[in-house]
Amino acid sequence: MRIAMLGAGNVATHLSKALIKSGNPVVQVWSRNNQNAIELALQIGANSIVDFKDINQEVELVIIAVNDDAILSIANQIPKREGQIVVHTSGSTALSVLNTHSSSGVIYPIQTFSKDVDLDFKKIPLCIEGSDDETQKLLFNLAQKLCDSVNIVDSSARLTLHISAVFACNFTNYLFAIAQELLEKSSLSFDLIKPLIFETVNKIAINLPENVQTGPAKRNDEQIMAKHLDILRANPESQEVYRLISQNIVKKHHQPKSTVK
Ligand SMILES: NC(=O)c1ccc[n+]([C@@H]2O[C@H](COP(=O)([O-])OP(=O)(O)OC[C@H]3O[C@@H](n4cnc5c(N)ncnc54)[C@H](OP(=O)(O)O)[C@@H]3O)[C@@H](O)[C@H]2O)c1
Repeated sequence: MRIAMLGAGNVATHLSKALIKSGNPVVQVWSRNNQNAIELALQIGANSIVDFKDINQEVELVIIAVNDDAILSIANQIPKREGQIVVHTSGSTALSVLNTHSSSGVIYPIQTFSKDVDLDFKKIPLCIEGSDDETQKLLFNLAQKLCDSVNIVDSSARLTLHISAVFACNFTNYLFAIAQELLEKSSLSFDLIKPLIFETVNKIAINLPENVQTGPAKRNDEQIMAKHLDILRANPESQEVYRLISQNIVKKHHQPKSTVK
């Protein structure tokens, strides 16, 4: 399958490389900043384009891997061609934003991508949705060449998946960053808590997260939480996050008593 990639960021980079590895050449790359398109095109042996009108007639699949807010506008600028499938890679954008195209779909990878961080695409679960049975089957078959877990997920379920991913990945990473900053302020290495982070994640491989919650809020150790909140006064944003999460943990594990003030 010949592919045009619109976008040259994190997802576009990893997905393009995986597609090529699976024998599906990405032949054209577009990005808002043409320099980024040139750089990705050079890496993968494709051509860069500056105008959507230049998308090849022979291209069978156009992938929109840009910021969610720009998907609709880009979809509307892509020339409408019978037999050319247009997909996006977003978790929270409905398939219907592509309905000006006769065949459309979604390839949503449940993973966190950073351009320069390598990962094994085979292990990434892919969520597929197609505008009709034939398109969905085609996308499903393509996805099976990319990874070991291909799932048919509609727009509404995909939205829930994305919200879960924001909690599980984006928010935890933000919390790691708070921890890192606190440690560095006291000249302590972030490496010291890495075994703790890894064990937290390893534990949930075979346990439900709610069954392995630990910490002052789980024990409802009020004096410790008050001490932590006091120390965090110098850092009001982190203090607010600490308070809110602690209140919620106490509420969940000590209902109806909720004491964090
Ligand atoms: N990153 C992830 O972990 C992840 C995981 C699953 C799904 N996704 C989804 O994949 C899509 C791409 O995410 P990403 O992380 O790859 O993004 P990214 O690395 O930030 O790259 C964004 C791309 O969109 C272009 N762009 C940004 N704003 C634009 C605008 N207003 N108009 C046109 N183009 C614009 C950028 O162009 P220039 O840089 O050239 O200006 C760049 O090519 C999103 O729908 C996202 O929800 C991301």
